[in-house]
Amino acid sequence: MSGVPVITIDGPGGSGKGTVGRQLAQRLGWAFLDSGALYRVTALAAIDQGLDLADQSAIASLIPSLDIAFGSGDSVLLGGEEVGDRLRTEQAGNAASKVAAHPTVRAALLQWQRDFRRPPGIVADGRDMGTVVFPDAGVKVFLTASVEERARRRYKQLIEKGLDANISALSDEIAERDARDTQRAAAPLRAAADALVLDSTAMSIDEVVERILAEAERILRC
Ligand code: C5P
Repeated sequence: MSGVPVITIDGPGGSGKGTVGRQLAQRLGWAFLDSGALYRVTALAAIDQGLDLADQSAIASLIPSLDIAFGSGDSVLLGGEEVGDRLRTEQAGNAASKVAAHPTVRAALLQWQRDFRRPPGIVADGRDMGTVVFPDAGVKVFLTASVEERARRRYKQLIEKGLDANISALSDEIAERDARDTQRAAAPLRAAADALVLDSTAMSIDEVVERILAEAERILRC
């Protein structure tokens, strides 16, 4: 499926990647790959099976048997069961970042992500979309924002979903997750050399979407 256009959006949690990526995909009529959801589902399945999150070979062996599917919006199905809401908690995000540090887990999820590539194009959101999974992507974006702004956004998202949240605990968790994601040996969070780096701290979602669309029009002519 190489040849099918890809826009990658990598960056730390809360930088707006998911919202921006979904809107972009909708505007272009393309599919949206939420790769973070794959790591979250994997962590959830491991926890459900009572596995130790440090046991990378047990978790990697579990992956081929997982039946993961994306529904519309935030919907994610594991074995046909809706798990979207369970995935969006901070606990699931932290557990995901633990399993994501294992190279064998990353390797087991690699082909699933590449197989997701389909015409007319995809927008892929994650940490290593432009560096590892789709290094041939035509447009690569690295989206950042300050820790304080990301904690504020996450707080708002959680409260809107009716979930419990505490802004200073969120800040701490975000900083801890950033450290784990950027310092790990396997596919650490970093901007691809050819990525457009955007700091969204003072930008609206619409501004970020328009900026990336302009880049896509210029490079991909779409
Ligand atoms: O993006 P999201 O917050 O859903 O990702 C959850 C965790 O999954 C991240 O903190 C990161 O450790 C991991 N992840 C990753 N590679 C990706 C996407 C997510 O390592 N491509």
